[in-house]
Amino acid sequence: MNQVVDKPLSINDISAMKRRGEKITCLTAYDASFAAVIDKAGIDILLVGDSLGMVVQGHSTTLPVTIEDMVYHTRCVSRVRKRAYIIADMPFMTYSAPDLAAKSAAQLLQAGGAHMVKLEGAKIDCVRFLVDQGIPVCGHLGLLPQSIHQFGAYSVQGKEPQDAQKIREDAQQLQQAGASMLILECVPATLAKEISLESSIPVIGIGAGVGCDGQVLVLYDLLNIGVGKRPRFSKNFMTGNNGVEEAIKAYHQAVKNVEFPGSEHSF
Ligand code: KIV
Repeated sequence: MNQVVDKPLSINDISAMKRRGEKITCLTAYDASFAAVIDKAGIDILLVGDSLGMVVQGHSTTLPVTIEDMVYHTRCVSRVRKRAYIIADMPFMTYSAPDLAAKSAAQLLQAGGAHMVKLEGAKIDCVRFLVDQGIPVCGHLGLLPQSIHQFGAYSVQGKEPQDAQKIREDAQQLQQAGASMLILECVPATLAKEISLESSIPVIGIGAGVGCDGQVLVLYDLLNIGVGKRPRFSKNFMTGNNGVEEAIKAYHQAVKNVEFPGSEHSF
């Protein structure tokens, strides 16, 4: 099941992992040093997440992050990556219309060196337009941190049947629009498992249970670094491991072996 590929991973390699039932590992990376360690540890996807606004820049939300910030951090990561596939987040208000989305995504691919861009919500027109230009897209449903002022709290989404149905339909529409991957954040494990089974594209969960095709965590949560409270869906992998590299390898193995997340990390 778990095939080690040493060459740089493409979207085809990631999709093949889903088809053969191998769990996909993903971690956030924002700088060259951590990106190199994560890449060497064998993690499949480096996500340059706009969570950097909170964990690197010290903001209370991801909203202040700019496209220039994202290009800078994506470039830091892509310079040292040898194997992992790189996804970069499109920041708040950089994809409010298809033309703007294409301009922002082009910066992340051309100047940043990303392989795929991620955008929050069911922005179907933008996704279709980007895919038409040859830009691979990852969707992001469930809890949408860029909409925190609309959501009111960082809470679990899709608990009510009509909300679950909406997330399900959005996932199908994103896939039909050409998205190649989907992140589900903070949704009930049963819903995430159903969406993963219904989708032909890889579904990566964070706070979405063990039934997804892969898992992503914010690196600093895994390393137990940070000022705030660690989210329930995360785990401190520094416990019982000797240093950062071992902790990341332990996360990688726990995901591949379907040992993380446990029910205590799920909703
Ligand atoms: O920005 C980020 O780190 C993310 C993950 C939480 C999925 O989008």
